[in-house]
Amino acid sequence: MNGLGTVISTEDSPTTLEYSFVLEEKSPVKKGQFVQTTSEEGIVFGYVAEITRANRYFERAESVAEYEKEAPVSSHFPIKSWEYAVAQVRVLGRMEKMGERFMQQRVSLPPSPGTPVVSADESLLKDFVGFMDNGLMLGKLQNHDVEARIDLTRLFQKHLAILAQSGAGKSHLASVMLEELLDRRLEDGRIATVIIDIHGEYSGFKRDPSYGRRVRVVNGSEICIPFRQLTPGMFSSWFPEVSGVGRNELGKILREMSSQEKNERRLFGITDLIKRVEGSSIRKNVQEPILRALYELKSINLISQSKESPAFRKQVIPGEMLVLDLSDLEDMRKKKLIVSYAANRLFKLRMKGQVPPVFLLVEEAHNFAPEKAKMAHNPSKSIIEKIAREGRKFGICLGVVSQRPVNLSTTTLSQCNTHVLLRVTNPNDLKHIEESAEGIDSRMARSITSLKVGEGIIVGEAVRYPIFVEIRDRKSRKFEKGKPLHLQAIEYESAASKTDEEDEEELEAFL
Ligand SMILES: Nc1ncnc2c1ncn2[C@@H]1O[C@H](COP(=O)(O)OP(=O)(O)O)[C@@H](O)[C@H]1O
Ligand SMILES: [Mg+2]
Repeated sequence: MNGLGTVISTEDSPTTLEYSFVLEEKSPVKKGQFVQTTSEEGIVFGYVAEITRANRYFERAESVAEYEKEAPVSSHFPIKSWEYAVAQVRVLGRMEKMGERFMQQRVSLPPSPGTPVVSADESLLKDFVGFMDNGLMLGKLQNHDVEARIDLTRLFQKHLAILAQSGAGKSHLASVMLEELLDRRLEDGRIATVIIDIHGEYSGFKRDPSYGRRVRVVNGSEICIPFRQLTPGMFSSWFPEVSGVGRNELGKILREMSSQEKNERRLFGITDLIKRVEGSSIRKNVQEPILRALYELKSINLISQSKESPAFRKQVIPGEMLVLDLSDLEDMRKKKLIVSYAANRLFKLRMKGQVPPVFLLVEEAHNFAPEKAKMAHNPSKSIIEKIAREGRKFGICLGVVSQRPVNLSTTTLSQCNTHVLLRVTNPNDLKHIEESAEGIDSRMARSITSLKVGEGIIVGEAVRYPIFVEIRDRKSRKFEKGKPLHLQAIEYESAASKTDEEDEEELEAFL
């Protein structure tokens, strides 16, 4: 444990909330570091909120200016030996030994002036911040030699938001979390993971020699929903322009078809449904919106006769990961319908206990649960908000990743009890984050802009105090769809010159 300095008496400290200490010479203290001192009550924990330096020789501007006219002040006085530094500490709590364990308590007495201050004891610090030995190892606590091992339940049960600007390391962090989930041992409790992968960033796990076996990737174009899963409720949330009457009529037809399927042992599809609606006696003004919706549904090629891909019931497996790679789809509407279906299906299966507890990670979540959107344009919003509100009871945990927190549904964001914040510089986004992340103080908010790639702040349920973490490297193989621009350009030109040569050869042959 490093000695750092000594508590001093100032006009308004030490108190139970803060104190200052003068640094020992060459004291290695850093802003943001956790430190400890003692009072009659026991060990008092705090963090260094700021460090100031002072030197009496430089206090009076006019004297400094006067001396400097002739020669530097240092040539007149032993200035170095008069410099000192003071660290201001925000008190966080105290640790009291109860039997074998240390318990966290409130501080009701300040430390006395003159008490030594030392760097926080690392094993106590782990308890204090709330790390668990079997937690997810996301990296290292900044300024300390302590692994950031976050408790699984505290991180996921009440949902998680990873917010930062593009390129700050959101997907990297998500991948680190996924590695930890895949590596988890049975006795520590393993959950399943389903990922809505917009850019095809997670399919690399499939090719990784150590993770591949526990990963399934389904491409967007292969995803299909069996006709029997189509319910009037789902239909009306996807196509709100269909009236209540329309929904009832559709319900009747679907029920008829379903009993016919059972009795006659046959399968129907969306084309059969369209025929039935067309041939029905439903009033024109009710029938037309239903048909328009059905034609649209047919055209996006999502409903199959009986195949479900992925088969959620079979493919959502503890300790394994199912990636829905939507990067091959262009149609945003189709992506939203897929997310809506997948989230609804997981919710229902979880309610019935037919799949294990599951972590649903949604990349680019602002597209699927936007703050401002009409239902018609965002069929996935209501289910994401529902999972955010009620998922915890059923063991379905939501992880939202977004570079546009301002556009993300506030209902969803406010239900995410843990926020991991990486670098953000846009002032609007910053303001929004500050308002939505409970427990983030203005000091932390200010430092979000100066975070480097790979550094993050964790606030909320997962930790007892907001912490700065250096996210670890990935163990898994990184795989990016889309080559760097310069390689694409080279490839294009070499392909183009080949075609030119071929054209010429063909021409010669012809002549
Ligand atoms: N903790 C880290 N350690 C090493 N490299 C990182 C780290 N975080 C991010 N990177 C790298 O920075 C780049 C951007 O990260 P990425 O996760 O794709 O950002 P985002 O998803 O926020 O747009 C990637 O090349 C990634 O490998
Ligand atoms: Mg990303």
